[in-house]
Amino acid sequence: MRAVYVRNFAPFEQIDIAEVDDPVPGSGEVVVDVVAAEANYPDILVIEGKYQVKPPLPFSPGKAAAGRISAVGSGVKGFSIGDAVAVQVEYGAYAEKVRARAESCFRMPDGVPFEKAAALGLVYQTAWFALKERANFKPGERVLVLGASGGIGVASIQLAKAFGASTVIGGVLGASNAEVARQAGADHVVDLGVPNLRDQLKTDVFALTNGHGVDVVIDPVGGAANAAAFRALAWCGRLVIIGFASGEIPTIKANYLLVKNIAVTGLQWSDYRDRTPDRVTQAQKELFDLYSRGLIDPVISRIVPLVDFKSALSALQAGQAQGKIILQVRPELR
Ligand SMILES: NC(=O)c1ccc[n+]([C@@H]2O[C@H](COP(=O)([O-])OP(=O)(O)OC[C@H]3O[C@@H](n4cnc5c(N)ncnc54)[C@H](OP(=O)(O)O)[C@@H]3O)[C@@H](O)[C@H]2O)c1
Repeated sequence: MRAVYVRNFAPFEQIDIAEVDDPVPGSGEVVVDVVAAEANYPDILVIEGKYQVKPPLPFSPGKAAAGRISAVGSGVKGFSIGDAVAVQVEYGAYAEKVRARAESCFRMPDGVPFEKAAALGLVYQTAWFALKERANFKPGERVLVLGASGGIGVASIQLAKAFGASTVIGGVLGASNAEVARQAGADHVVDLGVPNLRDQLKTDVFALTNGHGVDVVIDPVGGAANAAAFRALAWCGRLVIIGFASGEIPTIKANYLLVKNIAVTGLQWSDYRDRTPDRVTQAQKELFDLYSRGLIDPVISRIVPLVDFKSALSALQAGQAQGKIILQVRPELR
């Protein structure tokens, strides 16, 4: 099969596609022929060897895909060859075939396109667990989503609205990204690129929430936006740390927590995938159900063939993904 192939950790510009052996499923595993794979920001970190989990070399990157099961290992129940599934893996999805644990495959309901199923993967799962598990979000609450035009951002806006948020504010850099956040369903959009962000974000958010502040902040950006968002929280607000797309890991001031009874919580979604697969399966069922009811719909800004994976990663690196970029791998299998 053909696969993006990392022989040594390196900048993604130095990585190429190679012809490699087909994977063989072990006990409890399946092989999925990939129709579409989700390009994600963490893939860049994985390729460079800067991610929390370093795959053994050589490997193929890629954390989520949708395709058809082509081989079933011993002990697997409930899946057959030809089944259409979304699949979540630690790495390996930038390839014509990916090996996965059967419990990390999710049957696609009829009518869901493979590209949408792939796009309902990592970022929607992460946003789902951020809001429901980490933030303990309740209907009627007000939510600020940073990095609102990116993958996590769009998913968080759509899920917060679907779960009954009274107000969702998207924080973005630049006018074209503002439009993406609005189209994803943000009630308001604020600019995170202003020079006096520390004061301006608080002023904007309190004006947009009738002086209440936001109950929940979803933060995949870090840096100066994180520090400013703290000040925009309401009493008993919760801030969920998801990532550092700005490249800057912020330092949290403990006095803020005390003064407004604030809680800061982190999320590493892959732990839920590995430790509580049943909850992840349930979340994926709910995500497919919300999609089928028209309550969420991944924004796919570009679909590019697998050979163009570097252009997808370049856009992610520059903060210009605008929703999701999908890699088309074997469209003839749809
Ligand atoms: N914790 C987890 O389990 C988990 C799971 C998946 C991803 N992540 C992490 O979450 C972060 C975001 O992922 P994503 O998929 O949403 O990425 P993405 O699609 O590339 O979106 C990131 C967004 O952050 C904003 N941004 C602000 N400053 C930026 C900068 N200097 N460079 C690039 N982007 C900047 C941009 O949007 P605006 O213009 O709208 O601000 C950009 O679109 C990454 O750090 C990723 O590793 C964590």
